[in-house]
Amino acid sequence: MTGLPMTVPDPALPARVRIHEVGPRDGLQNEKTAVPTAVKAEFIRRLAAAGLSTVEATSFVHPKWVPQLADAEELFPLLHGLPVRLPVLVPNERGLDRALALGAREVAVFASATESFARANLNRTVDEALAMFEPVVIRAIEAGLKVRGYLSMCFGDPWEGAVPVGQVVRVTKALADMGCDELSLGDTIGVATPGHVQRLLTELDGAGVPVSRLAVHFHDTYGQALSNTLAALRHGVTTVDASAGGLGGCPYAKSATGNLATEDLVWMLDGLGIETGVDLAALTATSVWMAEQLGRPSPSRTVRALSHKE
Ligand code: HMG
Ligand code: MG
Repeated sequence: MTGLPMTVPDPALPARVRIHEVGPRDGLQNEKTAVPTAVKAEFIRRLAAAGLSTVEATSFVHPKWVPQLADAEELFPLLHGLPVRLPVLVPNERGLDRALALGAREVAVFASATESFARANLNRTVDEALAMFEPVVIRAIEAGLKVRGYLSMCFGDPWEGAVPVGQVVRVTKALADMGCDELSLGDTIGVATPGHVQRLLTELDGAGVPVSRLAVHFHDTYGQALSNTLAALRHGVTTVDASAGGLGGCPYAKSATGNLATEDLVWMLDGLGIETGVDLAALTATSVWMAEQLGRPSPSRTVRALSHKE
């Protein structure tokens, strides 16, 4: 066991990738039992110490909708002074007020490409949800915050099946026009394959959404997340969402499993000589520690391989 892959760069790929770590939010929002606030804070501190420059910390959503993150008010102040970006999810102005009151500097709204998921996740139609986000984005920008716009169900939907690419482009453009700095394309249920990713990115180019504003967010249900990420990198995407240890899912999309594991991503990027700033050994140790807190092993292949004891 070497601990690091051999580095063989591919000149067609970007030199550097920013990993947007979503484990504490996308991962822990799906846990059956609530993780103690102090453990969440320690998890985030360890992720930051492992070199992750962006760690999505929590969500200011309705506590009844996502009870796992109902401690956002207690958690966020514990992170004060950490030298990393700490975005939080806010669905509406109530969420933004809560985030601003605690000094959040980055927020994310989260739209859906499909009507079924907009209803299940936000209790709104797609357009009603966009109308809910507009004042959030405007006020957040006025307050000097960075704003990310997530788009879920970009590649398939558990109720509606295939999602037409044009539908995804329309909502992505609406979020871009609203003023979101960054747009994260979500494969919420992990059904995408590389050609599909390439198709969507090409259509977004054609619609005038620059690749520099895009991030990709793959769940790994069918084991495609890493191949899909490579397709996105080939297209010029340089921001990739991932979750330490492969934690995750979505409480309002039952077929969703964990996100692309950050360790699996870092193994590939290290092998390609792509800079991330992440220390793979420290990150793996963090996921092993978190798996102990949760009482089950990490699903990440890289975590398992690197922590395997003879
Ligand atoms: P609603 O029931 O329609 O809410 O839920 P409402 O606007 O009618 O308000 C009802 C009550 O909730 C009011 O209280 C509000 O004040 C309160 P009352 O006046 O009745 O006492 N309320 C709030 N309280 C605290 N914080 C708030 C808040 N908002 C309203 N922010 C709502 C609409 C959007 C609130 C709800 O649907 C919700 O919270 N949804 C969040 C669902 C969620 O977090 N899902 C997971 C994240 S998305 C995801 O995981 C996908 C992603 O990873 C990408 C991918 O993989 O695709 C991002
Ligand atoms: Mg997600």
